[in-house]
Amino acid sequence: MTAPTTRFLTGITTTGTPHLGNYVGAIRPAVQASLRPGTESFYFLADYHALIKCDEPARIQRSTMEIAACWLAAGLDPERVYFYRQSDIPEIPELTWLLTCVTGKGLLNRAHAYKASVDKNLADGRDPDADVTAGLFMYPVLMAADIIMFNAHKVPVGRDQIQHIEMARDIAQSFNHLYGPHFTLPEAAIDEAVATLPGLDGRKMSKSYDNTIALFAPPEQLRRQILNIVTDSRAPGEPKDPDNSALFQIYQAFASSDETAALRQAYADGIAWGEAKQLLFERIDREIAPMRERYRALTGNPAELETILRRGADKARAIASPFVARLRHAVGLRNLGQQEGATATAKQDERPALPGFKQYREADGLHYFKLVDASGRVLLLSTGFASPRDAGRAVAQLRDGRIAGLEQHIRRPDDIAEYELSSALALLAQAR
Ligand code: TRP
Repeated sequence: MTAPTTRFLTGITTTGTPHLGNYVGAIRPAVQASLRPGTESFYFLADYHALIKCDEPARIQRSTMEIAACWLAAGLDPERVYFYRQSDIPEIPELTWLLTCVTGKGLLNRAHAYKASVDKNLADGRDPDADVTAGLFMYPVLMAADIIMFNAHKVPVGRDQIQHIEMARDIAQSFNHLYGPHFTLPEAAIDEAVATLPGLDGRKMSKSYDNTIALFAPPEQLRRQILNIVTDSRAPGEPKDPDNSALFQIYQAFASSDETAALRQAYADGIAWGEAKQLLFERIDREIAPMRERYRALTGNPAELETILRRGADKARAIASPFVARLRHAVGLRNLGQQEGATATAKQDERPALPGFKQYREADGLHYFKLVDASGRVLLLSTGFASPRDAGRAVAQLRDGRIAGLEQHIRRPDDIAEYELSSALALLAQAR
């Protein structure tokens, strides 16, 4: 039996141009993670989020193109992962509304980003809500919709986003409490091993400090930016301290441990700053150059990018659309022709044939079950249970549409898409 997959999901707000810090801190580890077996990755361009902080349409369009090209150039395989643009998924704003209606206003009042704006207004003696949009206030609900739409388990984010993931859990829990267990509760995944890259001035590389090095600038510009990294005034021949050197830390983020050890030695031996900068330039350029080519090709052909994103959206919507249909039903946004209970009669026969559970015993003496659809396709298989009662209990739970806690005991065959299984279970739950 294969272990159940862990779903990773993260969004990138489309307001800026990718820099080396984004690459080392987010893009490179995400591309690597997407290659690990047993994982399913959802990476998306959070352009609805971009509208909250940016009112320049051209900048949003440009940034969306650059970030999309950047992730693909860095090796993300859109066939292997779900790579899409948030605004291509109309189910996301739809879910945002369903979630808005179960979210306490008090919860949103406590969100750091909103509170910081209010506190600043108060400190400046202004109206507390001056220049605060409802978009900023609602940001955590939109983000919760992004995450729980795909029942993500792990959300790789920076520390500043942890509160938002906790809010997504709270919101998912409120919905589950009212309408049944539809959502997986997500967790933030903070990778301690991933470096935060220092910027030109030695502080964390960040657009807000204006100390970034562009990821796909032409090589000459990359070289010029690297020459601008602050160093101390030690002369050539004087030993230098690698541990307080932004230059060294950036090098380390790109180099092998042998290369890093060699540069450490060169520091001790008094390498000139100019020479160290040249080494850094060459090392970064070696990793980036092939991607830069692909980046140029992609940004030179935006129509192709558009096609890739549309295809990603189709894939994502194949999950989102039946899921939202089920959620609409759960909250009571229903087809009036399909009354539940006593009034449902005439139309019964036109309903899709339901999948069914089959329980059986194997030669190993254990008790199993599988879920088979009307055409005989196996949608789900169980692991072995010690008694028929244990197997029956798991079946009963699944009939209720609750998967939580059973992940270890069930497996989706490789030829069955996740949404096929979830819609089959939804159908069963609705039929009750
Ligand atoms: N708010 C996140 C940021 O600014 C971006 C984002 C939007 C996101 N939706 C998300 C991250 C969902 C993780 C999951 O960095």
